[in-house]
Parts: sequence; C-alpha cells; structure tokens
Amino acid sequence: MTEAKAAWNALRDTPATSLTELFTNEPDRLSRLSMEEAGILFDFSKTHLSAALIDRFAALAEANDFAGRRDALFAGAVVNVTEGRAAEHPAERGQGAPDSVARARGFHARMRGMIDAIEAEVFGPIRHILHVGIGGSALGPDLLVDALGRDAGRYDVAVVSNVDGAALDAVFRRFDPQATLLVVASKTFTTTETMLNARSVLSWMEEDNVEDPYSRVIALTASPEKAVEWGIDETRILPFSESVGGRYSLWSSIGFPAALALGWDAFEELLEGAAAMDRHFRLAPPSTNIPLLAAFVDQYYSVLRGAETRAVFAYDERLRLLPAYLQQLEMESNGKGVKADGSPVDGPTAAITWGGVGTDAQHAVFQLLHQGTRLVPVEFVAAIEPDHVLDDAHHRTLLVNCFAQGAALMAGRDNGDPARAYPGDRPSTTILLDRLDARRLGALIAFYEHRTFANAVMLGINPFDQFGVELGKEIAKSIESEGTERFDPSTRALIARALG
Ligand code: F6P
Repeated sequence: MTEAKAAWNALRDTPATSLTELFTNEPDRLSRLSMEEAGILFDFSKTHLSAALIDRFAALAEANDFAGRRDALFAGAVVNVTEGRAAEHPAERGQGAPDSVARARGFHARMRGMIDAIEAEVFGPIRHILHVGIGGSALGPDLLVDALGRDAGRYDVAVVSNVDGAALDAVFRRFDPQATLLVVASKTFTTTETMLNARSVLSWMEEDNVEDPYSRVIALTASPEKAVEWGIDETRILPFSESVGGRYSLWSSIGFPAALALGWDAFEELLEGAAAMDRHFRLAPPSTNIPLLAAFVDQYYSVLRGAETRAVFAYDERLRLLPAYLQQLEMESNGKGVKADGSPVDGPTAAITWGGVGTDAQHAVFQLLHQGTRLVPVEFVAAIEPDHVLDDAHHRTLLVNCFAQGAALMAGRDNGDPARAYPGDRPSTTILLDRLDARRLGALIAFYEHRTFANAVMLGINPFDQFGVELGKEIAKSIESEGTERFDPSTRALIARALG
C-alpha cells in the first residue's frame, strides 16, 4: 500500500464527531482553529476538523510531498507538467525564482509607465476604459475594480467578456468612443470571443470617426507577437510571462485596468498583501498553515463526507464577484479526472463552487443549507469596517446576520414538528477582514490560490492546465468551417433551426 493510500485509510477510520461535541472535547479549539494573517481572521472552528483529523491530513500532505511541491512552486520549477511550464504567479508578488521576479518587475515597470502616459493624456483625454477579455483575462480585473474602485473616480472601467453583443451594446450606450481606451486582454491573443469583441469596439470607434482607433488600443498578453500581427503597436503591448496561468494572472499586466483605476500605490499594496500570504503559506507548519488547513476542510467534506459542492457567501456587496472568480480558480484548476502522471483519480476532485451575497442569499438559497438533504460546507466572507455613508445599523445588521447563520447551521434546533426542525451540525468557515482594502484583498486572493494548490497536491493532480475547455472550442470552430454533417441529429437540428 502506498503511503498516501495508508493516510487516506487512517482518515477514513477517524471517528466522526459532531461540531458541538468537538467544542466540548477540545477546550482550546477556538484558539487553535481561529487564526489571523495579513489583517484577515480565518475561523475554521465550526468545521469538523478535529485535532486527530489535522494530524492525519498532515500525514496525507507529507505522503504527497506537499513541502517539496510547494518548494518547487516557489522555486519556479516545472510544476505544470502537462504543459512543461512553471507557475509564476508568486513571482509577480516578488516571491519566486530571482530571474522570474526580475522579469515580473520589468513588466510591472512597463505597466506603470503606461499608466503615467495615460494620466499625462498621451492618448488624449481618456475617461472610459473598455477592457475586453474572458475567463482569467476578465474575472480578476473585474473583481478588483468592482471591489475597490467604487470611489476611485479616476476612470470609468467596463469589463466585457461575453461574446453576446448585448454585453458590448450596454457599454456603447454609456461610453463616449472619443474618450475611450480599448484594453484587449488575452494571454494567447487568439480567444474567439475576445478578438471578436475587440474588433467590434474598433468598428464602434471608426463609426464615430475616432482618429486612428488602433492607436487607442492597449494589449495585455503573453503572446506579444500575436498582438503585433493583430495590428497593435509594440509600444502599446504590456506583456506578461507565459508561465503565469490565466486564472492566476490578475497580478500581472492583466491587472492593468485595476492599477489604472485604483492607482499604482493600491496595485502595489495588492501585491504586498499577496506576498504576505505567500510567505505564510511557504513557512507556516501544517497545523497553523491557513491555506493548507482550508484544503484539509475541502478534502474532508468532498472525499470523506461526499459533499458535491461548497458555497461561498460574501457578506459584503463589494465582493459580489468573488464567487464567480473562485468558480474559475477552483473548478478550472482542480476539476480534473486524472492525476499529473495521467493515471485516473480514484475519488472526487474539486467540489462545485457556488455562492452569492449575504444577506440576499439568506432569502433565496439558505433553506436548502439549513434543512436540505445535501451537505454543503459554507464559507462566509465579511469585513469589519463598512464602506458607505449610511447609518451603522446597516453594517451591524449585515454582520449580525452573517454570524447568526454560522451559529444556526452548527447548533440547529429540535422541534416537535419535523418541518420546523433544524438538524444542525452543518459546517461553516468564517473569513473576517479587518477592512476591505487592496492589501487585504491581495492576501485573500492569494489564500484562495494556495488553498487550490494544496488541494491539488493532496489529490495528486496538476492544477495549472485546463484541457477540458478545448473540445467545445474546437467543435464551435469546426461548425463554422466544416458545416454540421458529422454531428448528431439533435445538434444538427438545433443549428438548422437557429442558424439556418
Ligand atoms: O477557455 C479557458 C481559458 O483558456 C482560460 O483558462 C483563460 O483564462 C481564458 O480561456 C481566456 O484565455 P486568453 O487569456 O488566452 O484569452
């Protein structure tokens, strides 16, 4: 039997204890499982992680050479084995191999220079930034601008990802083509949706007689030669390394609209917050390593308790895009069926990530969380300081509700009437930021990245490729180029009916 199999067996043999019993049996539970890093409190005490489970998960991590793989990640070794690449996102935060860090710094200096040029009105009086990109080339910048940019007032930024023309149309109605800068974000610079959207923005500018629309385009890409071929002048290309994965790229030039809207100082704080989490992840022992403990929680519910999903609720309107961001990060990274060596995984991999905002979600989906038959580990994310001018009652009510939900899920309530009874013993993790600023958001996102990596290590999979997205793209292209003969009757009939 392999060491990893033995570790899983030991985990399976660990007796299940209820949450309330765990609090009784482990008097130091709260202090051990509630920990702070980079201005963020992580409270895992309302999960079923017992001291015994933590020890056994630590053994599993060791059996999978967690420390070695983590070192390899930060050393810039080829951890993305199927594509023969490193994963250089920590280097963007100054936490990687010296040559990768130096290269990232060079790219950041170029970004900064571009921001200075825009501010100096080299492109004319720009007020509107239209960022087109999709997946990792949109979700990160969108999250940053939405979370932190509400009062920035520097530029009005729109992030458009969907190829559905309705998305661009909505922006065209409010932006002035004469005052718009087009930012085309694509790691590969070949993504169909992004290239089509970018061309449509150029046409919109041309129709308004913008002088030389191509001079109003900035490219963010790891394939600068493709951007040049597409017609963008080299001086307006902000490159980043091929070894920064799309869903890990907001720290690179893909974060450009956020750096522009929020200011360079805020962007640097974002990187510094992430670097603080990098250092913690690299150095903390398993029992206090926050991303690793979060991964233990994920593995426990998914593999040992059969939970198919995990839910994230941001009790903060500014983080309303966090669940969508995490969906790509977690599901595109770890939604795999084979290990890094190509052998099949013999259990579930990434849970389905879903979520929403509190308190809205309480009035929509929480019924299932409290009384449904499925186990759903819940994560609450909130900030102590509000960011609005309204009466304190708003923030107080928001936070009181957040904490009440975690307590209710755990405690449950007996009732003579089964319809009104709450089984309880339902787990939640609470992540509480002192306040939501660039530094803390950087640390929070880096926490999620490392948790995803730690999960991958325990599953033995490569979190840095995404071949699963390719087949559908290829088929879409072949429908356009080769027609529909080779498809099934249903697909042919749908195409004939909708597209003729
Ligand atoms: O289709 C998935 C994907 O490859 C993501 O991994 C990536 O973030 C997104 O498409 C966009 O790709 P690109 O940045 O190359 O346009």
